[in-house]
Amino acid sequence: MPDPSPNLSPEPADILIDGARYAARPGEPLIAALNRAQVTVPQVCYHAQLGPIQTCDTCIVEVDGQLVRACGTPACAGMRVRTAVQAAQVAREEAFDRLLANHQLYCTVCDNNNGNCTVHNTTREMNVQHQYRPFQGKGLAVDASHPFYRYDPDQCILCGRCVEACQNLQVNETLSINWEAEQPRVLWDGGVPAGESSCVGCGHCVTVCPCNALMEKSMLGEAGFFTDQRGPLFGNAVAMVKNVEPSLGYGPIMNLSEIEAAGREGYIRRTKTVCTYCGVGCAFEVWTKDRHILKIEPTQGPANGVSTCIKGKFAWDHVSSPSRLTRPLIRENGAFREADWDEALALIARRLEALRAEHGPDALAFITSSKCTNEESFLMQKLARSVIGTNNVDNCSRYCQSPATMGLWRTVGYGGDSGSITDLERAGLVIGIGTNTAESHPVLATRVKRAQKLRGQKLIVADLREHEMARRADLFLRPNPGTDFVWLNAVSRYLLDQGLENRAFLDRWVSGLDAFRASLDAYTLEHAEVVTGLSGEILRRVAHEIAQADGVCIMWAMGVTQQMSGSETSTAISNLLLLTGNYMRPGAGSYPLRGHNNVQGASDMGSMPSHVTGYQRVDDPAVRAVYAAEWGVDLPTTAGLDNHQMIHAIHAGTLRGLYLKGEDISLVDANANYVDAALEKLEFLVVQEMFFSHTASFADVVLPASPSLEKDGTFTNTERRIQRLNQALPPLGDSRPDWQIIQGVANALGAGWSYAHPAEVMDEIARLTPLYAGVTYERLAGFASLQWPVQPDGTDTPLLFTDGFPFPDGRARLYPAEFIPRTEPPDAQYDLHLNNGRMLEHFHEGNMTFRTAGITAQVPGAFVEVSPDLACERGLTDGTLVRLVSRHGAVKLPALVTSRVQGRQLYVPMNSPNAAQAVNRLTGSHTDPSTHTPAYKDTAVRLEVIGGTGDTPPLPRQNFRYGTPTPQRGVEVERKWARPDYVFPGLGLGLLRGGSLNARADRVGAPPQSSRMNMPSKSGVADD
Ligand code: SF4
Ligand code: SF4
Ligand code: SF4
Ligand code: FES
Repeated sequence: MPDPSPNLSPEPADILIDGARYAARPGEPLIAALNRAQVTVPQVCYHAQLGPIQTCDTCIVEVDGQLVRACGTPACAGMRVRTAVQAAQVAREEAFDRLLANHQLYCTVCDNNNGNCTVHNTTREMNVQHQYRPFQGKGLAVDASHPFYRYDPDQCILCGRCVEACQNLQVNETLSINWEAEQPRVLWDGGVPAGESSCVGCGHCVTVCPCNALMEKSMLGEAGFFTDQRGPLFGNAVAMVKNVEPSLGYGPIMNLSEIEAAGREGYIRRTKTVCTYCGVGCAFEVWTKDRHILKIEPTQGPANGVSTCIKGKFAWDHVSSPSRLTRPLIRENGAFREADWDEALALIARRLEALRAEHGPDALAFITSSKCTNEESFLMQKLARSVIGTNNVDNCSRYCQSPATMGLWRTVGYGGDSGSITDLERAGLVIGIGTNTAESHPVLATRVKRAQKLRGQKLIVADLREHEMARRADLFLRPNPGTDFVWLNAVSRYLLDQGLENRAFLDRWVSGLDAFRASLDAYTLEHAEVVTGLSGEILRRVAHEIAQADGVCIMWAMGVTQQMSGSETSTAISNLLLLTGNYMRPGAGSYPLRGHNNVQGASDMGSMPSHVTGYQRVDDPAVRAVYAAEWGVDLPTTAGLDNHQMIHAIHAGTLRGLYLKGEDISLVDANANYVDAALEKLEFLVVQEMFFSHTASFADVVLPASPSLEKDGTFTNTERRIQRLNQALPPLGDSRPDWQIIQGVANALGAGWSYAHPAEVMDEIARLTPLYAGVTYERLAGFASLQWPVQPDGTDTPLLFTDGFPFPDGRARLYPAEFIPRTEPPDAQYDLHLNNGRMLEHFHEGNMTFRTAGITAQVPGAFVEVSPDLACERGLTDGTLVRLVSRHGAVKLPALVTSRVQGRQLYVPMNSPNAAQAVNRLTGSHTDPSTHTPAYKDTAVRLEVIGGTGDTPPLPRQNFRYGTPTPQRGVEVERKWARPDYVFPGLGLGLLRGGSLNARADRVGAPPQSSRMNMPSKSGVADD
């Protein structure tokens, strides 16, 4: 979770609270110390993950004789705090009364009355019986224009939490409050409807809103017993509450609403789960009512705190989509028919056994899914190895992450992030290479954006497209495609030439300097200028920024790995970090950002042709002996086929049967036409899926699987963090969790497995896998997590390298890597460079995200981004239909003219609901030679103009990319304090004149009696 004040003194100091002595961290908000001491003080606007906002004034206490806001006052040694003095109490009551004038308390008929409403709970805790300032509507319309949430100004207490979250946690900078207005409110992009603004739909604002002013639309009319009343009925219910309040007071009304809230517990389930989309690994509760998903509620996820992105917060309609597969399907006479499980499993067993008997076990192959749990990946490779007897098993890290793992194995021994997301926040300098982080790893990106905005962290981005992180970067490099290796090595050589390497670190921890130095001979700045197009001056600046930084983290992704040089460039990145001593310390290291939610775990679990669990080699007899003892069978001894080799082997006729789980291989593998042809050729194909994917259309048997919310298990995120997901819903129809299906297939083949729960699978994983040795479900209860390696006693490893590197001598290795140039540079026939990647709204090809209507409305399909220069040259405007033709295929797409791309470079997002438009119809089969990861980013095309503009623009105008953010420092509460009508609570009301904020409320109600006291300034700090 983000620590808003990471630079506090670690040494505690004593403070006095109501006469008793407590420990505080000097510099922390006093309210944090009060909370730790369990001294109850109201705090409506304070949120520990946002830090002090100071808008609500409900936390006023007396410090050394003067009234101050406890959230805005830093703790310091010896301070004397009194919370119960009458002056402070009166001030707090007055402050809260002002809030209530902005908020109608109709809790019993409110969808937010679920025990966690801050305004309700504060009313209760302060024992408020009457409002002195009656509620007054603001005369502003409800904004329901956003697909996923609505804003009700009449309920908004102007606490500014949403603004702070949007400006300084998510750092999308959409929200503000017009403090100077007669009637302030929350604004989107300075005053446009939310649904037409720059809002990225991350939901931070909704999550932190302390009342019902911002609500998920999925909650409205659904959460309460009586909340589906609308119009006059609703108005009558509210009026009834208001009518009894003067005579009875709020006590009985609060009691009634709490009884109603307690009743909701009978039908609202709150289940902790982990996001199914990207590798950040956001954890949250999902609130369900039957199969209706009321909301996603992030609170304390170890990787995300209250943060989410649009997908994790809102993209869950796939779970109960009518398109879900709910029955097994069997192909018969060229068409599919429904079958029951027994028939489907028996058929699979019969066909697999027959192929094995006739052609041997290596005629079969298995592909697991990085969307599935660790336990499911483990069972899939167990099925392949122990039941069938082949090492032909792989997962989709082959398509993206294997080169990064290779680069790290070569240099530092472990293929994982060397620290945590908190290290990225802490670094002095973050470098992003080939990563569109704000769209592919959105919550992780927020931490970098926040550190840059609030703490002055430096950010360098190297990429082809000017995406958000590039726009925010202190230095944005646009090297020629596929040349990152060259500039990285040139920077390394320059550092060595200038004596800027970290000599002490190299001497103590690193081998291979001489050979590495020799390998850099050719990489002068002049050479780099020619190859990369980056000036020597820029590269010198990069080198000096690295040398000067207090901790450097380098994060990279598919822009690096999906190149011919993917492994080599990943190696060069790690070499550069070693050279400058940026391992073995917090706030430094390598971050190969893992794409899918469990792509790290799928490989950890041995879904790889050359390794069993925990990266233990299959050709190591000692490893096989451990497995033989556990499983009672001998494992195959040599490495099997990877995904890429499997496709070639099908074409070659040596691979005849494939069992594929949750992988839409026909769209996500490169050279999709070649893959389609291979799938056509297979003698037997099993596809285990939630939806009838394009790949499923080639299957002989389709098995209906469950999404994450319907199963138990664990995911391992990009930080090597293992987290539990818990079953929130029963499987839809006859679908089953993947682990049950695999067990069914194994048992149909005679395996005799008897796992009753994934916890038993994890126990087996722990027995076989030193990296997971101490992982148990008990240690992962609730929001607990463990970062591997996990020792048998449960000790985990947030910082991966602390006392050396996992090589026999404990030393890391500088590895002389070799540049591999592009295979498909543009030429006369194919004159444009084609790039591709993810979009924020969709995950990968979009099989799940296209099921959520609000997402599809934002991004309905694929398109090709063209630069303004190219558009001008070819006469293209938004929507012009073009055909892209490569050496491997052709697709027809609408054009989108944008300066995100430059010159003769194009960009096609991966997501397409139409298989004929998949970008992989254009990519080729050439790969990084070390890992066989396709060089997706090394594709040349030509563009043919078809003409016309279609009915709808490729990207609707309400998409956030057309918005105009309004960056500011945060809530900017000083502007509230500067209002002529603002007075620090408790100071007497004779000072008020005109205005609206306090005066509007104060002139109506009879204020509580204020006592005489010292007069603080508007900021709450007392004048001398
Ligand atoms: S980007 Fe949108 S959803 Fe996210 S915090 Fe800002 S206004 Fe809210
Ligand atoms: S909408 Fe924003 S300012 Fe209004 S109550 Fe909610 S968090 Fe506070
Ligand atoms: S997609 Fe990634 S960043 Fe977004 S909520 Fe899920 S895990 Fe978090
Ligand atoms: S909690 Fe301190 S001003 Fe709101």
